[in-house]
Amino acid sequence: MIYNLKKVQDADVNNKKVLLRVDVDVPVVDGVIQDESRLKAWFPTLEYLINANANAKIYLIGHMGRPKQQFPTPVSTPFGANNFQFTISEPNLSLKPVAEWVSKKVNGQIEEEKIDIFNTWKIRDDIYLLENLRFFEGEEKNDPAFVKKLALIGDVFINDAFATAHRAHASTEGITKFLPSFAGVRVQKEVEELSRVLENPLRPLAVMIGGAKIETKLPLVEKMHRIADLVLVGGEIAENDKILLKVQHEDIEGRKSVLLVADLNQDLKDITPKSSENFIQVLQNTGTIVWNGPMGLVEQPPFDTGTKTLADGIAKLSAYKILGGGDTVSCIQKIGVIDKFNFVSTGGGAMLEFLSGEKLPGLVALEVHS
Ligand code: 3PG
Repeated sequence: MIYNLKKVQDADVNNKKVLLRVDVDVPVVDGVIQDESRLKAWFPTLEYLINANANAKIYLIGHMGRPKQQFPTPVSTPFGANNFQFTISEPNLSLKPVAEWVSKKVNGQIEEEKIDIFNTWKIRDDIYLLENLRFFEGEEKNDPAFVKKLALIGDVFINDAFATAHRAHASTEGITKFLPSFAGVRVQKEVEELSRVLENPLRPLAVMIGGAKIETKLPLVEKMHRIADLVLVGGEIAENDKILLKVQHEDIEGRKSVLLVADLNQDLKDITPKSSENFIQVLQNTGTIVWNGPMGLVEQPPFDTGTKTLADGIAKLSAYKILGGGDTVSCIQKIGVIDKFNFVSTGGGAMLEFLSGEKLPGLVALEVHS
């Protein structure tokens, strides 16, 4: 296996305050969570900590989306920073729906509480959830002053947020410099499953990339050319960067995979039926298919038609099929063929980075050092 991780099962959490980093970047519309898969993925680690007879106090931490307005880390006064108040300008990125979800699962009762600079929900006497850490600029900047504030809350750090493991942020990497740190149950499973594909994939290996976040995806497409036999690209990148994708492909030296970029309908919101059929055709004889990102604006039917056609077509293939990413999983779940995939990763970008052979900072920080 590529990583030798310290595991939550080996952590001493008895009577400890445990900071548990989780994936809470889920689709929410009007305060309603659209897909719970990412939350369900780390829930066993929370249950483990509750049931380990450990008297642990658990502080859940995580992020949602990419807030545009971020606050600098407040400077502490001799009286602490408890009086620091901020108004969230993007309430749609608040973690309140996640606090409600956890509360239902553990029979809690939500109360608002302030822990130093952090707006927090006390869910039960032993379970808390801190508000979206990306409301502070220190989270993404991995700012030491912010990291220290976070670290002061806990005695032990557990990371069960695989989908964010490719980010060297305060709550994924910075904090591990201050607290004994371990991998949660989900992170362990992701590493185990994806390592097998990375080390010994059934070939031909096809990677299909769509969706938004094009600034993240473009470099990933390039990395995929080095490991895959076939790279299929659709969604927003196909719309904006068709020429760039081709130039990028031509510039790769040495062994590289075949590139296929989707044609889009006139409205540019979905893959054409012909391209969908073509994609399914070339995937027929593949050994492994990795899919991240819908092929159209699936949240606005009928622009989900191409993704549906592809999902139904791929579901019938005998290749080893892996699906990853919040929006992708949510959409394939709705289409109803999620059970046809052999492994569903919580990670989108993280899964692709992992499969490209790139070391993920959030995982490197959890490795055993002999
Ligand atoms: C994801 O959805 O892939 C993760 O939550 C990471 O999000 P990011 O690309 O905004 O860092």
